[in-house]
Amino acid sequence: MERNILEIKNLTTCFFTDDGTVKATDRVSINVGKGQTVCLVGESGSGKSVTSLAVMRLIDYAGGFIQSGNVMFHGQDLAAKDLDEMMHVRGNKIAMIFQDPMSALNPVFTVGDQIAESLMLHQNMSQQDAFKKAIDMLRLVGIPAPEVRVKQYPHEMSGGMCQRVVIAMALACNPEMLIADEPTTALDVTVQAQILDLLRRLQKELGMSILLITHDMGVAAEMADRIAVMYAGTIVEEGTVERIFDEPRHPYTIGLLQSIPGFEGERGGELYTIQGTIPSITQLPTGCRFHPRCPYAIDKCRKEEPILREVVTGQQVACWLNEDVSNHFRINQRANSVAGSKAEVNRQ
Ligand SMILES: Nc1ncnc2c1ncn2[C@@H]1O[C@H](COP(=O)(O)OP(=O)(O)OP(=O)(O)O)[C@@H](O)[C@H]1O
Ligand code: SF4
Ligand SMILES: [Mg+2]
Repeated sequence: MERNILEIKNLTTCFFTDDGTVKATDRVSINVGKGQTVCLVGESGSGKSVTSLAVMRLIDYAGGFIQSGNVMFHGQDLAAKDLDEMMHVRGNKIAMIFQDPMSALNPVFTVGDQIAESLMLHQNMSQQDAFKKAIDMLRLVGIPAPEVRVKQYPHEMSGGMCQRVVIAMALACNPEMLIADEPTTALDVTVQAQILDLLRRLQKELGMSILLITHDMGVAAEMADRIAVMYAGTIVEEGTVERIFDEPRHPYTIGLLQSIPGFEGERGGELYTIQGTIPSITQLPTGCRFHPRCPYAIDKCRKEEPILREVVTGQQVACWLNEDVSNHFRINQRANSVAGSKAEVNRQ
């Protein structure tokens, strides 16, 4: 069986707010195997970034903390490390591409200086060697004339090029694990495809594992080996990309798949949207967090919270409907209407 590089186990995180301490994620578990890409998907506010900040222990600097759970990386629990120790893990063994790439670049330093800085810090390289490696990294991520570009400032580059620089910075220390939080959201479609190709190529070349955060199911279809679907701070479904796209079992996953642009065309209808909005972490519904928006909600859903459990090999779901055999037909009918969705997405 494939070895997991990262095992997030029952991770519960909290923030200090005006309303007191509130949970942002609740018992989140995600495994990432060696060389695997796991996509964490879900609507805005579902807790994707908070999960990644907790893994990197950056949540400690953002007014939050890990309340319980583990982040196992090579048998060590990052959740239990002190913040000084984490500085050696961050950037060196686990690298992160942040949701807003421009904020990761400092406007007053050249891109070469910025890449070289992390090499000098984490790899003890001399300034000269680090600068040479910075040029190699710019070449690796497909930036033309890297010897010239290395001396330029971020404002002298396009958005796509800055994103390549951010990737070069993240990968400079040859991390085993990359966490990429919406790495292509701010880019146009063509550049997005180029950056995703680049990540796939570098993953193969460097043997990295990737936790890719995206709200775009099309990106997940293209990139993921496994998908974890997050809603209101919990994982509601998890499985191989094939199972999630061909036989989604959680009504929220089904809704997300039906919301992919392009699906409406074949059915001749309007683009599907999941009714309602995601709840605030300070006002979570009782029972199943999705029940106010769920077309299948039954009485039990309003009272008891379903637990994530394996329903078939390679697929876990947190939904009462999947506990009751008589409901399988109903949900399968709905699921069948999105079957073939992966093929459809990939055709676009
Ligand atoms: N520093 C903070 N203090 C208080 N609450 C926070 C903080 N950061 C995030 N949250 C809350 O935690 C929840 C999850 O936020 P998070 O940023 O992880 O969402 P997300 O899934 O990454 O969304 P998006 O797709 O918009 O990036 C939200 O309700 C958000 O308001
Ligand atoms: S548990 Fe109930 S409300 Fe929640 S997703 Fe399943 S059917 Fe819908
Ligand atoms: Mg986010």
